[in-house]
Amino acid sequence: MKAIILCAGKGTRLRPLTHTTAKHLIPVANKPVLFYSMETIKAAGINEIGIIVNPANKEVFKEILKDGSEFGLKIDYIVQEEPKGLAHAVWVAKDFIGDDSFLMYLGDNMLMEDLTAFVKEFEREDLDASILLTPVEDPRRFGVAVLENGKIVKVVEKPKEPPSNLAIIGVYLFKPIVFEGIKNIKPSWRGELEITDAIGWLIENGYNVKGHIVYGWWKDTGKPEDLLEANRKILEMMKGSELYGKIDEDSELQGSVSVGEGSLIINSVVRGPVVIGKNAVIKNSYIGPYTSIGDDVHIENCEIENSIVMEGSTLMDIESRIDSSIFGKKVKLVRSERKPRTIKLVVGDLSTLELI
Ligand code: G1P
Repeated sequence: MKAIILCAGKGTRLRPLTHTTAKHLIPVANKPVLFYSMETIKAAGINEIGIIVNPANKEVFKEILKDGSEFGLKIDYIVQEEPKGLAHAVWVAKDFIGDDSFLMYLGDNMLMEDLTAFVKEFEREDLDASILLTPVEDPRRFGVAVLENGKIVKVVEKPKEPPSNLAIIGVYLFKPIVFEGIKNIKPSWRGELEITDAIGWLIENGYNVKGHIVYGWWKDTGKPEDLLEANRKILEMMKGSELYGKIDEDSELQGSVSVGEGSLIINSVVRGPVVIGKNAVIKNSYIGPYTSIGDDVHIENCEIENSIVMEGSTLMDIESRIDSSIFGKKVKLVRSERKPRTIKLVVGDLSTLELI
């Protein structure tokens, strides 16, 4: 069995972060979102992964993942030239998949779920498709499935009146017969070839499509607040502390805190769960719960919590406590002592700043 991870989406709701980083590579608890799904797929016994990319982000994935061997995987890159929908993304992976069954995973999704049972059941029962489902409060934002004795008898994409509360969460297993379905569907109202419609084709044509319900946490990390929630969720699961950096006598670490090699904590309070990368400096500061700080970050005379600070950024002499914030790479947030004491900003397109 192979896997494909769909990473061609542009991540418009995460601009400006996604101007320079693919949304799937944004770090959550100092690890790119995509790595979590790669680990889950590997843990389910699948080692051959095709990453579906767009022409603009292909190189950045290649640079980070290379041929996958560092992760114990074999990784191929498949370019989806135009964003024509999830079923289209699967279609462009046709040669990569060949005659194999495959797992399809939406690359911006994070779920705390071991997929081994899902994969085993698919193989044992010789299914044509199996779809991961979870009950949600508002199914209108998702593809929705109707189950009868474990079999899916109907699927609808973003229904105004949902026929059930079971949302399709973005992890699917297929036999190559799904390509026959994709061939036979038309673009939806949003102009996309929907994988939900291809599943509908399988059902209508008598193929064996099962629903596999899971109840664990999952998140589509499409918006900044989703990233912060995912960050909290992963940090919450930290067990104990791992300290490789130097913590001076005037500092205090509380709860689960991880500090990477070469990092210095000076006269500061760090209240976990917090993860700090390598070669970071935290000086005269308070780092509050649910904060992830990347490599080479410098934080001095600041208070920050529930936030993500990516590598190479500097936060210095900020009076108000920083909360629920995301800083991209090499961002500078500093206080100027020079007169006039004004706010001076160089802000990229589509940034959000809330000042007091
Ligand atoms: C896609 C699928 C939908 C599924 C959702 C899960 O929707 O079309 O069936 O429920 O992913 O995140 P989209 O995110 O493209 O709107």
